[in-house]
Amino acid sequence: MIEALPPVGVPADKVLAELRDLRAADLPTHGGRLFAYVYDPAVPGLDELANSAYALAAHVNGLDPTAFPSLLALENALVGAAAQLLGGGPGTAAPEVVGSVTGGGTESLILAVKAARDARPEVARPRLVVPTSGHAAFAKAAHYLGVTLDQVPVSARTLRPAPGDVAAAIGPDTVLVACSAPSYPYGVVDPVAEIAEVAATAGVRCHVDACFGGWTLPYLRRLGVPVPAFDFSLPGVTSISVDLHKYAYAPKGVSVLLHRDAELRRPQYFAFAGWPGYTLVNPVLSSTRSGGPIAAAYATLRHVGDAGYLALAERTLAAVRGLAGEVSRVDGLRLLAEPESTVVCFVSTDPGLDLFVLADELTRRGWHTQPQLSYAGLPANIHLSVTASVAPRVAEFGADLRGAAADARSAGPVRLPAALLETLGALTPAQLTPELVAGVAAGLGLDPAAASRPPERMAPVNTLLDAAPITVRERLLAEFLGLLQRPAW
Ligand SMILES: Cc1ncc(COP(=O)(O)O)c(C=O)c1O
Repeated sequence: MIEALPPVGVPADKVLAELRDLRAADLPTHGGRLFAYVYDPAVPGLDELANSAYALAAHVNGLDPTAFPSLLALENALVGAAAQLLGGGPGTAAPEVVGSVTGGGTESLILAVKAARDARPEVARPRLVVPTSGHAAFAKAAHYLGVTLDQVPVSARTLRPAPGDVAAAIGPDTVLVACSAPSYPYGVVDPVAEIAEVAATAGVRCHVDACFGGWTLPYLRRLGVPVPAFDFSLPGVTSISVDLHKYAYAPKGVSVLLHRDAELRRPQYFAFAGWPGYTLVNPVLSSTRSGGPIAAAYATLRHVGDAGYLALAERTLAAVRGLAGEVSRVDGLRLLAEPESTVVCFVSTDPGLDLFVLADELTRRGWHTQPQLSYAGLPANIHLSVTASVAPRVAEFGADLRGAAADARSAGPVRLPAALLETLGALTPAQLTPELVAGVAAGLGLDPAAASRPPERMAPVNTLLDAAPITVRERLLAEFLGLLQRPAW
């Protein structure tokens, strides 16, 4: 049990030691063994630089850029860099690009949807068209903003939506069409040119979610990878998001939302003078915001530089190709998509080789992958977000993958009791009381009281979730998180 407010303050070195102890239970953020959540370029000295820059600006408040002009200058520099990388700026097809720095990809997407919604006040029931492979943050944006989500299926073969299906989903109340470059689950680039064109023909805004891979695609293209057009070079693209805390390798808390021009950005802003305090003018969701992540991102970009990002993309590409080769050489595993960005994603073709058991076997060997559940005809798979730090570890991963596959085969697939699966299939979210969820969690060996120790076997949990209807998955996990989030006292 830890205590945030002791009766008497604790000396600084002891506090730091306690924090280090706590961090020891976390997954490794560095070293190329964690294939989700973190982005590690393995550039010597970069963390120290970013941390110092963060500290310099941690107490600066983005609430009022006239009070802290340093932050305004840094934000404008980040927006300028992102715009130029993504086909905007002087001498391009989009010379008037403007943007904002947000706290992350989700915030950028919420704001893109808000800007689109508020640009069409005459639409009483606004709608948003997004492929099913579009990030869940679009669903969150729709939910928060009272916009209806129209999901367009993606093909199980190409993992992309058909532009004709996107066109068919657009109606008079559609305020925004979105697509991904690339999608998070599979790392494939949607047919952005065609989608932007159908959106433009319908007179609807088109947002390209390049949060995940927008910072690498231009560099991969320079390395000869056939990356299709996805940026402001396409006239129908009205906004693009790109996260600096992903493949620009900045510390967490920074993304950029770009609009083709200031007119498109205007409805993103919120201003309020109807109270006796200061007039509030916010370009983004937060009002008070720390300058820390912004200064750290600036320092990261400036230190790595264009040539550095090209070299990191080259290393990442080598890692992606190496990992894809290792996966292809294992009997019973198949790449779900031929990698075209920084994701390697694979399925099992052998009923005796359970992917979720395989993921646990990899965890046992110190490799932390991301199992993705089956959805709408798309199979369960293992996702690897690959960063430059993985490059020297490819052969080691390959050997462990072969060992893990052999052990997973001997262990055999997870078999949940038929009665449990039957009950699960018939459950509605409303039937999932906190007591029932606590019981299910205990039955699966998940002890909320011991959350500091991740369970050794996630395969039964993943199997159960995979078998559950979508709304039950959501409710189960939300309830479980609720069990974890309890005050410590
Ligand atoms: C394509 C894409 N969009 C949006 C997001 C959401 O970003 P964040 O987690 O920074 O809010 C992600 C995160 O992985 C992503 O991959």
